[in-house]
Amino acid sequence: MSNIATQIFFLLSLCSGISPLITQENRNQSLKQGPCTLPNFLITEIQNYQPIADEIMNAAISGAWKGRTFEGVTTFVDKYVNRLSGTPELEESIDYMMEKMVASGLDNVRGEDVQVPRWIRGEEKASLVEPVIKSISILGVGPSVGTPIAGISSEVIVVRSFDELEEKKDEIEGKIVVYNQGWLSSYEETSQYLHTGGIYYGAAYPKIPAACITREDAEFLYRVYSRGDRMVLNLTMMDEELSRVTSRNTIGKITGSLNPEEIVVVSGHIDVWDQGQGAMDDAGGVFVSVEALALIKYLGLTPKRTMQAILWTAEEFGLVGARAFVALHKEEMMNYKAVLESDSGNFSPLGLDFAGTEGAGCIIQEILKLTSAMNSTNYARYETVGSDIAVMIMEGVPGISLKTADEKYFYFHHSPADMLEVLDSEELDRNTALWAITSYVLADLSVTLSREVTNE
Ligand SMILES: *[C@@H]1O[C@H](CO)[C@@H](O)[C@H](O)[C@H]1NC(C)=O
Ligand SMILES: *[C@@H]1O[C@H](CO)[C@@H](O)[C@H](O)[C@H]1NC(C)=O
Ligand SMILES: *[C@@H]1O[C@H](CO)[C@@H](O)[C@H](O)[C@H]1NC(C)=O
Ligand SMILES: [Zn+2]
Repeated sequence: MSNIATQIFFLLSLCSGISPLITQENRNQSLKQGPCTLPNFLITEIQNYQPIADEIMNAAISGAWKGRTFEGVTTFVDKYVNRLSGTPELEESIDYMMEKMVASGLDNVRGEDVQVPRWIRGEEKASLVEPVIKSISILGVGPSVGTPIAGISSEVIVVRSFDELEEKKDEIEGKIVVYNQGWLSSYEETSQYLHTGGIYYGAAYPKIPAACITREDAEFLYRVYSRGDRMVLNLTMMDEELSRVTSRNTIGKITGSLNPEEIVVVSGHIDVWDQGQGAMDDAGGVFVSVEALALIKYLGLTPKRTMQAILWTAEEFGLVGARAFVALHKEEMMNYKAVLESDSGNFSPLGLDFAGTEGAGCIIQEILKLTSAMNSTNYARYETVGSDIAVMIMEGVPGISLKTADEKYFYFHHSPADMLEVLDSEELDRNTALWAITSYVLADLSVTLSREVTNE
């Protein structure tokens, strides 16, 4: 299904169970950020990075690194299209990125084993068979369970909200439920119904198949339903979840010159859903992270602290790689001074979203001023940011998410339309520059971002 700006979440109930969706944390409210009162020495110290920031921007935008991030993404997504968790292709793409990190001069390049889900999308088809016949395009929401081989044929109920489903709860046993929630005011709200690729089954409930349909079909089904006609849908989904297999988080670094044990991370996730090429979700994030470090290395810059690139595995199945990383490195979390992730598309860079204290946020804003020439100085503070890095933020690590002009993100997200064409070479260059400047300055500054929660 292409251009699913407003893909509808479609809950197909085989029995009486209602799939208990884990709703997204409420990430849409930005937090208060008061006026900044950084000490003068720190403001001066940050301003003194301007020549280095200019050098980075020049190299990325018009110098030796111009076009490099896009070139890297292009080769990568064409060569490794199917980087779904649990597949050999994902592991091959990880080997490729490890070689790339080594070739970029990063130190200690390694993979850390993680057990990840292996889910097979089988044949998926659906059609309305009463009161009229119409085939319905569906896309199973991984890791949905399948139907019996013969498929199911069942009456349909269409609701517009969870509340409406609650009102009709006595009518739904044995039926297929279609959510036609429309496009609500934000992704956060809409994704309570829709989170393409990413259904969570609560242990207390029976597992039922779940799939997305197009907004147009959802509206169609709703109109037919509203007229009171009996509706029957035939559905076959041969999806199945197999045992977990071993994948890897991929890690490479630039070792710090003074405090190598202290680490600033730049990251993106290497796995994808099995639609499109995962160009913006998240090959862009992978490459801006690796190229930011490669560029720092190329310019001969060595920060005081260690800069580490991490390519998370199995993000799409619930931050599996990131959770494993935190479990493995729990004792070292205090050494992580900041963690950056790019996973909301790499369009024209606007600035940074931050999760941390107000005081730390002042440092981020001051660093952003170094990128004024690219107009990428937007700043907002949230309870949490990013996808994978939310797990580290919960451990107290200050988190930073790359903010880009992502108004069209959900035209492509998790759909066959997430192809190379959504990315732009010059925009990627500016992403890489912003990423390199932010991470380098954080890794080199005389102070680290405070973790204490001040009186807010
Ligand atoms: C729908 O499923 C029923 C029961 O399996 C079957 O009898 C019928 O032929 C199917 N209809 C279509 C149009 O596939
Ligand atoms: C944020 O989300 C909450 C809960 O989903 C909603 O009530 C609120 O209107 C949203 N605010 C914005 C600015 O989108
Ligand atoms: C930044 O904004 C200025 C003024 O609006 C504009 O002239 C310039 O082209 C912009 N630069 C970039 C990289 O977008
Ligand atoms: Zn992603």
